Amino acid sequence: MKSQLTIYAALLLFILTFTQFNVITFAIDLTDDNSYKISHNKRQSAQSDLFKVVVNCNTYAVKNNCSKIKDAFITAGREISKVLTLNPEEPIYVYVIYKKLDRIKTLARTTPGILMPLISEDKKTRLYPQALVKQFPLEYHSKYTKYDIVSKVNTDINWWFKGDGQIKPNQYDLVLVALHELINGLGFKSSWTSKAESYSYEATGLTPIWYYYDYHWSYKFAGFFETIFDRSIYFLSKNTKAKSYYYVSKLNSTKPFTRTRELIASKEWVNAKYILEEATTINSIVFEPLKHTEVKGPIYLETSLKPFVEGVNIINLSQIYKNSADFLMTYPFIKGYTLESIVKNGKYKSPIGPKTIAILESMGYSTPKHPYPTLPSFVFSYKYLNNDPYVGSSDYYWLN
Ligand SMILES: *[C@@H]1O[C@H](CO)[C@@H](O)[C@H](O)[C@H]1NC(C)=O
Ligand SMILES: *[C@@H]1O[C@H](CO)[C@@H](O)[C@H](O)[C@H]1NC(C)=O
Ligand SMILES: *[C@@H]1O[C@H](CO)[C@@H](O)[C@H](O)[C@H]1NC(C)=O
Repeated sequence: MKSQLTIYAALLLFILTFTQFNVITFAIDLTDDNSYKISHNKRQSAQSDLFKVVVNCNTYAVKNNCSKIKDAFITAGREISKVLTLNPEEPIYVYVIYKKLDRIKTLARTTPGILMPLISEDKKTRLYPQALVKQFPLEYHSKYTKYDIVSKVNTDINWWFKGDGQIKPNQYDLVLVALHELINGLGFKSSWTSKAESYSYEATGLTPIWYYYDYHWSYKFAGFFETIFDRSIYFLSKNTKAKSYYYVSKLNSTKPFTRTRELIASKEWVNAKYILEEATTINSIVFEPLKHTEVKGPIYLETSLKPFVEGVNIINLSQIYKNSADFLMTYPFIKGYTLESIVKNGKYKSPIGPKTIAILESMGYSTPKHPYPTLPSFVFSYKYLNNDPYVGSSDYYWLN
């Protein structure tokens, strides 16, 4: 019996070795055939530190914690560099502010540095986050601001840092949250917002963000815009399916307004109401990745929370993906587990799931599998140049 087992074991070992050998030869063949892959792999290995992190630590924090916060964001940035092929000439600058956030439950809040209008391949103008614009070989672009991503991390949360020992059930791994936030900062963010009204829980409608521009010392309305994330968003009502852009145009036909009160009183507001309804009805907003990505079929976005919660509805993935490789972008954040242990237990290839990667690829990020996304082109207009889109009368949403 014993000797029989040994034979089987030896045979198994032989098969394993053989298979492994085969895999290695195959990989070598592949890179030889496609020389661009070699340069791409080089780009990949050169980019472990393409995220440059600066932490603003105020009186709330002890010095020791500041370096731990920085490390968490750097670790998160490295995970992104493993799945995206970022431009090695343009590092992504991240500014992290460790402070008390007004809303107790908010773990962190992130905004892309600046949004720039570019023309997508379907000839429509959309807003691209600065971090994404940096990936394109554009001859001209609007002026970059110093930071591509600004994240605020709440001091009131019981954070777990690497080296702290066993994570406690009520602790959050900052690397997990930092990774989610950086992906928002890369532009995983819809333009549909409740900010036209004062409080998101009292909102009667949603609008995309819009520009005002300064004209002879008075502000002029310069139209609604969607973000590049929204290009692939569809609203599904009972028997229709419409693109986000369709509703952006509908709202755009509002007479130019200078106060949100006028907008809310207009007949176009019915569209804003409809979008709010969709944003708070389960399974009614999907992201359809572009054809060149690995994911076929719709990706459901978070629309189950009612009333609408700014920063959660639409811009998180649906909770149906909580126990899948795409757990990272779902609501709410997982606590009591480290990012590393979740990935290990789920046997995931990366903490960033295939659906999340397909969304980033659809927006125009390059990956080892799909290195050459279609490029947008620069749009010149004095109206938008060096002007950030405003929401209502304040620049709160995108700059704060
Ligand atoms: C700093 O970190 C330690 C544990 O690493 C924690 O107990 C303490 O509350 C933190 N302090 C602040 C102000 O964040
Ligand atoms: C909205 O209006 C602005 C300004 O006229 C225009 O540039 C933009 O393309 C319009 N967007 C849509 C979706 O119609
Ligand atoms: C998703 O929900 C969490 C709350 O768990 C929120 O803090 C986060 O900012 C949301 N995600 C996005 C995409 O903003």
